[in-house]
Amino acid sequence: MAAASVTVAAAAALAAERAAGASLSFRRGPAGALRLLQVCRRAHAAAAAAAAPDTQTATRIKKFAIYRWNPDNPGEKPRMQTYEVDLNKCGPMVLDALIKIKNEMDSTLTFRRSCREGICGSCAMNIGGGNSLACTTKIDTDLGKVAKIYPLPHMYVVKDLVPDLSNFYAQYKAIQPYLKKKDESKQGKEQYLQSIEDREKLVITPLFFSFCFIGVLACLNFFPRGGSL
Ligand code: FES
Repeated sequence: MAAASVTVAAAAALAAERAAGASLSFRRGPAGALRLLQVCRRAHAAAAAAAAPDTQTATRIKKFAIYRWNPDNPGEKPRMQTYEVDLNKCGPMVLDALIKIKNEMDSTLTFRRSCREGICGSCAMNIGGGNSLACTTKIDTDLGKVAKIYPLPHMYVVKDLVPDLSNFYAQYKAIQPYLKKKDESKQGKEQYLQSIEDREKLVITPLFFSFCFIGVLACLNFFPRGGSL
């Protein structure tokens, strides 16, 4: 609240004190000073209370343009649908906004999510032009910018923001991107221990990066629609 408004509110509070029968004349000495202090405090508290609703009721409307496509309506082409979300009533992450839209505005909006803490990868989607996890991506609080959300690129779409991962998993299985022992005779009988040296070898290989399909789908080596890893 601006200083001038606070002054007006404080003056109004003093007037209210007077209307309630309080005397606004103060004696000299400690008792008068104490009384003056009490009246000022009450006026100040009233002014602060008057200021509080301004910040609590103000809205911060952010627009989200979201890719929509429903296979149950075969004649309908994919489209972008815009929703308006008050950021004052929404969590800070993109996934919070999607959940709010689904719960309060449009229950047909479809997306995947599970852990909500950046572990499972199920909320992967294209946010503002980059492949990201919706649960760990903060909403851009610039209200002048529309947040654009698409499904992951280079994939068939099951519905709205849900990509079909079947082709991805089939290719992944084909290349067997996991560690194998030269001698697997002890498989299932004994724990395979990894040495520090072997661990270091792993970190510098492409294998270390290849488990996240967000990164794989952003890679130019992944050819759209049936390409291979
Ligand atoms: S919900 Fe699991 S990574 Fe986002």
